[in-house]
Amino acid sequence: MEIYLDTADLDAIEELSEILPIAGVTTNPSIVATGKHPLNVLLPKIRRIIGPSCTIFAQVLAREPESMIDEALYLNDLDPKLVVKIPAIASGFAAIMALSARSVRTLGTAIYSPMQGLFAAHAGACYVAPYVNRLDATGGDGIKMVQSLQKLLDLHEPSCSILAASFRTPSQVLDCLLAGARAVTIPPDVARQMLASPAVDVAIERFEKDWLKVFGNLSA
Ligand code: E4P
Repeated sequence: MEIYLDTADLDAIEELSEILPIAGVTTNPSIVATGKHPLNVLLPKIRRIIGPSCTIFAQVLAREPESMIDEALYLNDLDPKLVVKIPAIASGFAAIMALSARSVRTLGTAIYSPMQGLFAAHAGACYVAPYVNRLDATGGDGIKMVQSLQKLLDLHEPSCSILAASFRTPSQVLDCLLAGARAVTIPPDVARQMLASPAVDVAIERFEKDWLKVFGNLSA
């Protein structure tokens, strides 16, 4: 299983990477724009925080295959362990195929249907990113899409992993993992919700109180 943080917020990456065993950080152009650092500045900053073994994902902005490929090669040179995100549209499939032939690792992004994800995987993407909440928000069923896509990958493209994305709630993350997604990317606010555990805090306080009543201090 792989857990990624979906953010360009360096403080949040620093805070959460100390608590969660993350596999890396994912970004998209909107996320990068909120941080105000261009990718050639941002990626080294993220790399310094997460260390050499984690993976960073960065997305191309181009829409045509040739310029997608050029941009992907530029991004790939910015970081030693980068996966390039390519929108899973017709021109993106062409770019994924060409990049895969050059051994550049790609993720097919903006997946809204199982077949779209399967095509990206078949073109050579190592990961596909179904947008769970964005589909839910437009009247679709994000979890059902992930379940169907996972079945298709198991049957036809088992070397490609789902990296489920676009989450607003912890239960969306849980349901994707239950559907067999090998990777999830979680925004910091959802990660913090998943880490908060008020009932557990109450139980721990109770243990302390009971102990203190009898022994007066907290040494065992
Ligand atoms: C993946 O990295 C996607 O770009 C991202 O999760 C989209 O999330 P959003 O729907 O919260 O913008």
